[in-house]
Amino acid sequence: MPVSIVIGSQWGDEGKGKIVDLLSPDVDIVARYQGGANAGHTICWDDEEFVLHLVPSGVFHDGVTCVIGNGVVLDPKAVIDEIQKIEDLGFPVEGRLKISHNAHLIMPYHKAIEAAQEASRAEASDDDAIGTTGRGIGPSYTDKFARTGIRVVDLLDRDVLRAKLTRSIEEKNAILKQIHGADQLDVDAIIEEYVAFDQQIDPYVTDTSEYLCNALDDGKRVLAEGAQGSLLDVDFGSYPFVTSSHPTAGGCCTGLGVPPTAVDRVIGIAKAYCTRVGNGPFPTELHDAAGERLRKVGAEFGATTGRPRRCGWLDLVALRYTSMINGFSELTITKMDVLSGLDELKVCTQYRYDGKTTRRFPSEAQTLERVEPLYETLPGWDEDITDARHISELPSEAQDYLDFISDYLRVPVGMVSIGPRRDQIIPLADTAPAA
Ligand code: GDP
Ligand code: IMO
Ligand code: MG
Repeated sequence: MPVSIVIGSQWGDEGKGKIVDLLSPDVDIVARYQGGANAGHTICWDDEEFVLHLVPSGVFHDGVTCVIGNGVVLDPKAVIDEIQKIEDLGFPVEGRLKISHNAHLIMPYHKAIEAAQEASRAEASDDDAIGTTGRGIGPSYTDKFARTGIRVVDLLDRDVLRAKLTRSIEEKNAILKQIHGADQLDVDAIIEEYVAFDQQIDPYVTDTSEYLCNALDDGKRVLAEGAQGSLLDVDFGSYPFVTSSHPTAGGCCTGLGVPPTAVDRVIGIAKAYCTRVGNGPFPTELHDAAGERLRKVGAEFGATTGRPRRCGWLDLVALRYTSMINGFSELTITKMDVLSGLDELKVCTQYRYDGKTTRRFPSEAQTLERVEPLYETLPGWDEDITDARHISELPSEAQDYLDFISDYLRVPVGMVSIGPRRDQIIPLADTAPAA
């Protein structure tokens, strides 16, 4: 299996970090292909819990090389701090992490512009703000595609960096002042700060596409780690309430520089219910005690921003759509344990809009806002399932719930997660790691 991809199939926070960590012992390389420090991927073992934002979730396994690909937007300070924290825990990073020379950098002006843009959207109406993570993601990708960005490789040449930074900061200061009426940034202070990153970043920088393609030629196995979720994809999500990258399967090839023919396994991660952080349409959102219960039992608070996550029932119309565009070869269902204790479970199987029922997912925000979710009700179960390690140990209602999902989507469920820890996993397919 040359390249496997782990992809969030909903609005992010599906438990990708846990699953990537679990699959890591079976691969040689784990690679992030898009997004940046907007991601928060949680890994729990024994009594430890660690949230990774930029370093791939394979870093806690000896013998795994981690790659931050060209498609990622890199906050140099955030990655340096994260490396330090991981090393403080006793896991060496130098020599095991490679950062693409072509990855674009997040600069202080990206965060300042994002804050100003969000403030002016919120001023127009609370519903207009996207509810971004404030990590500078959108403005950094904007610069990348406007061909005005600054890349990791530029950090390694002080003269080039100074020249590019001076031009960029002056331009961004004009935008901040004239369009947003916001504070000006100090050109010299930013240059000083970024020039000093060169030595810290230098040991990690390489042509990661070449490294990955050579590794694949040598028979090495690569696990590509998606961030965010398919419904936040800039093309396939409910634009403009999306992130600025491609978490979907195609993003893996452009974000790593590996050929599509190398990909032979696409693992969709889905929560047994749905959550979303930030604004945007969410058809199955619950505004009542049931939603509150999911948030409380599922500890649904953002791993990056700490914001409460919006919670709702499982949406199979949405999941069918993301399964279609990603071509999931299997699904991992996470957080099944959170559903224990509910008498009944609702699952959205159709939408109604414009007087018609449909299984089509309309990704445009204005339509998705108007759809009415139509539910089937399935029986719940009472038992605590966090100690189950085999499918036969799950109550029959839980098994039926999984079968219902798999039958609707026509995609097999390869693993079921029943708690945050590494050992809390039920393998269903031959390809799943043993608990
Ligand atoms: P990611 O962004 O997709 O990696 O997911 P996050 O780390 O942001 O959020 C998932 C949260 O659920 C984390 O706190 C995980 O520790 C936790 N988690 C993962 N799988 C399970 C599970 O099966 N059951 C429970 N109760 N928690 C889980
Ligand atoms: P992981 O990898 C959940 C959401 C933000 C906002 C929108 C745009 O942990 O699953 P951005 O800062 O990217 O411009 O914000 O996307 N968002 C996430 N939601 N999980 C994430 O990452 C997210 N990364 C961004 O809340 O709605
Ligand atoms: Mg997360």
